[in-house]
Amino acid sequence: MKLPKGKAKKAYVSRMFTGLSGNYDLVNSICSLSIDRTWRIAAVKALGTCADGRVLDFCAGTLPLSLALLKRGRGTVAAIDISEGMLRTGIQRFHGKFDPERVAPVCGDGESLPLKDEVCDGAMVAFGIRNLADLDRGFLELIRVMRSGARLVILEFSRPKNPLFASTYRLYLKWILVPVGTLLTGDRDAYRYLIRSIEAFPPPGDVAARLARAGFKHISVTSLTGGIVTLYTAEKV
Ligand SMILES: C[S@@+](CC[C@H](N)C(=O)[O-])C[C@H]1O[C@@H](n2cnc3c(N)ncnc32)[C@H](O)[C@@H]1O
Repeated sequence: MKLPKGKAKKAYVSRMFTGLSGNYDLVNSICSLSIDRTWRIAAVKALGTCADGRVLDFCAGTLPLSLALLKRGRGTVAAIDISEGMLRTGIQRFHGKFDPERVAPVCGDGESLPLKDEVCDGAMVAFGIRNLADLDRGFLELIRVMRSGARLVILEFSRPKNPLFASTYRLYLKWILVPVGTLLTGDRDAYRYLIRSIEAFPPPGDVAARLARAGFKHISVTSLTGGIVTLYTAEKV
């Protein structure tokens, strides 16, 4: 599958996630054996005391990361996603699980955030940056809306370094994730897109360099679950 680029990618991603939204969380839980929850908890912990302020959940999807923060931090969340369908599914799914006063879902483009400058005490992204049409533009928008002293935490898929684990992981993606995802959502292309987008995404060192180029400081990179996922933290000074 050839990955779309630029405006075509934005339109494709928005349409695809809207189509997947009903079963998105179920596929994630089954295919990750619920390990995805531990990754999100790690992300919220990495926010430190920023989790008690006004936090942006960038590419919030069905709000699982917002929910993790609301359970563990005292803060409020602005949850932004380009797909209204993903946000709506999240609101329905988590109805009654958190105080609606603490989360504001907003349908908008992360590459042109509908927020004023320096209004967030923290920002977090889970599995969103890989889907941006323009990653650098997304980083510039994130730093623009963060206050000085605010922390950014990112979770994103990466490729394991250990060759044996890497080939087992590739087999798992091809023979378990794609068939299970296709069965539950009816959208085979979406799961082929997932694999291609993981393969095409820059390695952690490059992502860290791009965060630095956007103006972030104190950047750290931590590999989780054998390198399947990378946790990035960065600060606006
Ligand atoms: C893989 S999902 C991740 C959702 C959620 N953060 C989670 O932890 O499961 C990626 C999300 O990024 C959103 N997205 C992609 N491009 C975006 C953009 N330019 N602006 C805002 N959201 C975007 C998609 O609509 C989708 O909901």
